[in-house]
Amino acid sequence: MTAAGLAHRAEELLDPAAYAYVAGSASAERTAAANRSAFDRQRLLPRMLRGATDPAARDLSVEVLGTRLAAPVLTAPIGVLELLHKGGEVIAAAATKELGIGTVLSTAASSTIEEVGAAAGEWWFQLYWPADDELARSFVRRAERAGAKAIVVTVDTPTLGWRPRDLELAHLPFLHGKGIANYLSDPVFRSKLATPPEEGEDAMRAAILVWISLFGNHSLRPADLARLREWTELPIVVKGILHPDDARQVVDAGADAVVVSNHGGRQVDGAIAALDALPTIVATVGDRADVLFDSGIRTGSDMLTALALGAKAVLYGRPWVYGLGIAGHAGVRHALRLLLADFDTAMGLTGCANLAEVDRSLIATVR
Ligand code: FNR
Repeated sequence: MTAAGLAHRAEELLDPAAYAYVAGSASAERTAAANRSAFDRQRLLPRMLRGATDPAARDLSVEVLGTRLAAPVLTAPIGVLELLHKGGEVIAAAATKELGIGTVLSTAASSTIEEVGAAAGEWWFQLYWPADDELARSFVRRAERAGAKAIVVTVDTPTLGWRPRDLELAHLPFLHGKGIANYLSDPVFRSKLATPPEEGEDAMRAAILVWISLFGNHSLRPADLARLREWTELPIVVKGILHPDDARQVVDAGADAVVVSNHGGRQVDGAIAALDALPTIVATVGDRADVLFDSGIRTGSDMLTALALGAKAVLYGRPWVYGLGIAGHAGVRHALRLLLADFDTAMGLTGCANLAEVDRSLIATVR
């Protein structure tokens, strides 16, 4: 089965609103389409007779920011997984642990940081930096205690993009309070509520309004990363970078890594495809920071292409979320194993025995 096959099965089987939540992107969804077509403009130039086709010769492992991974992939942070499967974040974290890859837990998870920390192997925490530093700091502290190995600050979503599929189904999962487990379980957040959210519908509605008021931080600037650096010794990753000047500024301000990403085309319709933004950002900050990549990865060759263009690792998004919706743990595991097997094969057949051998020379210039 392919990633497209998983999407197709998900469309057949899932509740339409849940499918729309995952599949949907901003406005006319042109950037989501561009994320895929950008891969069509890149071609690999395989090398032969190098022995890499021997499975015993291949080592896909990598260390990223002190995190050891069996292959250069982590599951992307995806909010509100309860819409796909109860306990979705915990299930996904357990599946990545079994496969030796990483997981990035969303702030907007429907499981708590502590629940996921107990189930996960190597994991990072994705921070939607709220409009309240005390709360931001509390999230970071909880993630650190629960075993996160890095903090990933997503900077492209101080407010949600215009997503017609969500709007048409009047669905907006966040507004129903499904993605706020981390907030509801946080002592700082709770201290801002007049009534505990457990005390009935009105109390929950009031909690959701407080959450809305705190979700996005419009005053955040690169220099604020210095504060995050004071709060934690964990590596700081900034996710959602497309412009090289932004990459330079956040690295100057202390980021250890950036994720080149357009949020799967869910934020700015018409924005550059993430793959097209990658080479310039690697050229700008690649000597000082790790560059990771997401938005559009669907096959092992896609992974290899992003790595050859300078990404240290990739985040994998929608396909495993469809797997979760279709078949829970087995579905996530299946989706991830498909990608890993495809990547392993692509490495061997292009003559790469390990990641040190993956570089720009693997990309063909085609006119
Ligand atoms: C996301 N993404 C996301 N990113 C983030 O930093 N925090 C989050 O909570 C979410 N939530 C989320 C939900 C859903 C349903 C999707 C599809 C995406 C963005 C995600 O981490 C990643 O950048 C994209 O999924 C990459 O695009 P593709 O490869 O999945 O198309």
